[in-house]
Amino acid sequence: MLIIGGAGFIGVNAAHSFAAQGWRVSLFDNLSRHGAQSNLDWLRQRHNVGFAKGDIRDREALDKIFAERPYDAVLHLAAQVAVTTSVVNPREDFEINAMGTLNVLEAARQHCPQASLLFASTNKVYGKLEELQVVERSGRYAYAEQENGVSETQSLDFHSPYGCSKGAADQYVVDYSRIYGMNGTAFRQSCIYGPRQFGVEDQGWLAWFAIAALLDKKLTIYGDGKQVRDVLHVGDLIRAYALVIEQPDKARGQAFNIGGGPRHTLSLLDLIALLEQRLGRKIAPGFGDWRAGDQKVYVSDISKLEQMLGWTPQIDVAQGVGRLIEWVKENRALFA
Ligand SMILES: NC(=O)c1ccc[n+]([C@@H]2O[C@H](COP(=O)([O-])OP(=O)(O)OC[C@H]3O[C@@H](n4cnc5c(N)ncnc54)[C@H](O)[C@@H]3O)[C@@H](O)[C@H]2O)c1
Repeated sequence: MLIIGGAGFIGVNAAHSFAAQGWRVSLFDNLSRHGAQSNLDWLRQRHNVGFAKGDIRDREALDKIFAERPYDAVLHLAAQVAVTTSVVNPREDFEINAMGTLNVLEAARQHCPQASLLFASTNKVYGKLEELQVVERSGRYAYAEQENGVSETQSLDFHSPYGCSKGAADQYVVDYSRIYGMNGTAFRQSCIYGPRQFGVEDQGWLAWFAIAALLDKKLTIYGDGKQVRDVLHVGDLIRAYALVIEQPDKARGQAFNIGGGPRHTLSLLDLIALLEQRLGRKIAPGFGDWRAGDQKVYVSDISKLEQMLGWTPQIDVAQGVGRLIEWVKENRALFA
């Protein structure tokens, strides 16, 4: 298995899990993300994994790692991950997320066209979803009608350079399966959280809140804090990755929404309350203006994945956030 972006949060958790199951795992990563080196060191203390430092914009470097052996599975997780950064530097965002993904697809087409190729897409491909009516219930926002959340039948509507670059990549992955008969699958991921997530204010909000609360860093809520997201523990995500690899006939050419779904949601204020309960003290966040394009609600309809691949989230939010808090507590030095 080759994991591109393998030293990131999801990548290192995936590598740990698959290596423990006996997979021979290689990673490719340019280590640009803060925490990536620490993740790699942590992984290497536990497993004998291959690693090549390289950038997905560099076709020769990709060609070299793909030529090493005929991989059965490729997880493509490398990305410029923040909407805010994409607005500041849209060209770089495009080159990494859109062009970089094309480079990965072309390398896979040449070297391992029958490998399962799983692309980490995003719920941002559906845009702001302004047509979905939102109501307030018990101090948090909710969809007035879409009780099951947003399904894959929702029109694509790319907002922000990040939405455009990831959305283009998502469509390339789906189309390469159609046109070249490859085994590509796009996972339109909602908020994923868990250990080894070096969350910052701009990306990985759940981990960021936990880190900021535990280390007494300044914590700002943009908007009123009643905004709701479905959240999924990385362990549940990786079980779904494994199911895609096990069932290529069902997963080929598909895009799936994946997140905690309607049963695993959190508002920002819910998370503050959960953290207060776990830490046994009050947290006093600041409040700022709503961020441009921020949705009041996003909840994934995960029924397609549940029905087609037999997957369902198993880690409940309180338990999962508890595990994240433990990891932050045990690794304070990483965030100082
Ligand atoms: N974490 C989430 O909540 C979430 C939600 C939706 C989608 N995603 C997607 O999942 C994937 C993984 O996310 P993550 O949270 O693990 O992010 P991450 O930033 O922790 O991991 C990404 C990894 O890619 C590497 N990378 C970045 N640019 C690269 C380049 N040009 N060449 C090679 N390596 C490069 C980084 O060093 C990092 O190790 C990303 O594609 C992201 O867009 C994540």
